[in-house]
Amino acid sequence: MKHLVILMIDNRFSRTYTKAMIVILGKKGKLATSFCRHIKVKPTFLGKDIAPFESPAKVIEQLNALKPTVVINCAQYSEVEKADSEKEKCQYMIHTTPAQMAKWCAQNDSLFIHFSSPLVFDGSGSDFRSENDKQNPLSFLGQTYQQAEQAILKSGAKHFIFRTHWLYASVGCHFIKKVLDQGKLEGQLKAINDEIGSPTSCDDVAKSVVKILEKIQGLPEIPSGVYHMTGFGETNQHEWCEEILSQGTSLGFPLQVRQVKAVKFKDLYPSGTQLSNGRLSNQKILKAFGIQLPDWKSAMLKTLQEMKKNH
Ligand SMILES: NC(=O)c1ccc[n+]([C@@H]2O[C@H](COP(=O)([O-])OP(=O)(O)OC[C@H]3O[C@@H](n4cnc5c(N)ncnc54)[C@H](OP(=O)(O)O)[C@@H]3O)[C@@H](O)[C@H]2O)c1
Repeated sequence: MKHLVILMIDNRFSRTYTKAMIVILGKKGKLATSFCRHIKVKPTFLGKDIAPFESPAKVIEQLNALKPTVVINCAQYSEVEKADSEKEKCQYMIHTTPAQMAKWCAQNDSLFIHFSSPLVFDGSGSDFRSENDKQNPLSFLGQTYQQAEQAILKSGAKHFIFRTHWLYASVGCHFIKKVLDQGKLEGQLKAINDEIGSPTSCDDVAKSVVKILEKIQGLPEIPSGVYHMTGFGETNQHEWCEEILSQGTSLGFPLQVRQVKAVKFKDLYPSGTQLSNGRLSNQKILKAFGIQLPDWKSAMLKTLQEMKKNH
């Protein structure tokens, strides 16, 4: 049975949802796996095998067959460093297909949930960016995220766009996993110290989205819009890497590396586009839904404990 999680009343459409059928795109990904753990009734997951984003028509065909009341897009273009040489694929993954899904949601009175990135900003200054601050994406990837957001906003669908950053989980590929793998070998690690952001636990994001879905039950109108949702606090990858090694060592991970060399972004990626300031203000989501994600160090400890248990 794939319904009965959420009761939503939306007066604009005079429609009462007594049964929510949830479809999640991005079957084996980090965030999709966290939704699988925290959403109360089993959603239907669509992987790239049957819903490849390079073929939007196939994705829409699946939506037509399943007729979900909530669509959660957790698919991601993961090979970030190839974005400039794979522009067409990147466009389909991040913008074209999500835009078509949003259109489908508008036509079918369904709620569309999408995840975006601080790459829509230019990373200047040192302030925490608010949702409506001026956007100025510097990279092709950032421009594509921006186009997706704009298309979803224009689609007319009820929607939530959650901008998040530096996601990790107890499964999948991410920064923590890479540090733990490389830290097994003797030698020195290098990590960037001139990009600031917030490590964010996929479990915390999934739990918060579920909470929001529960909170909007009975609201006269769904408060569609862009919301920031990142782990509390800020750091850079050098400090993050040191914290991973410190917590990992205390938990008994087999780590040889004790030293992390701080490097500048441009030392590692001379032709890459840097996002120096990826800080996102989480005030809007706190005010609207009373949601504040745990601080990044304690959230990471939970994930590391789980990774150790599953090791
Ligand atoms: N990771 C971050 O730091 C970050 C930051 C900001 C925003 N986001 C957004 O957060 C969401 C979740 O990210 P994540 O880190 O959980 O992603 P992830 O772990 O990299 O998983 C992405 C999933 O996308 C699916 N996928 C890959 N290529 C596909 C294709 N051609 N067609 C359809 N599906 C395809 C794969 O699903 P299957 O192989 O299982 O089918 C994969 O498991 C994404 O929307 C992402 O844009 C992530």
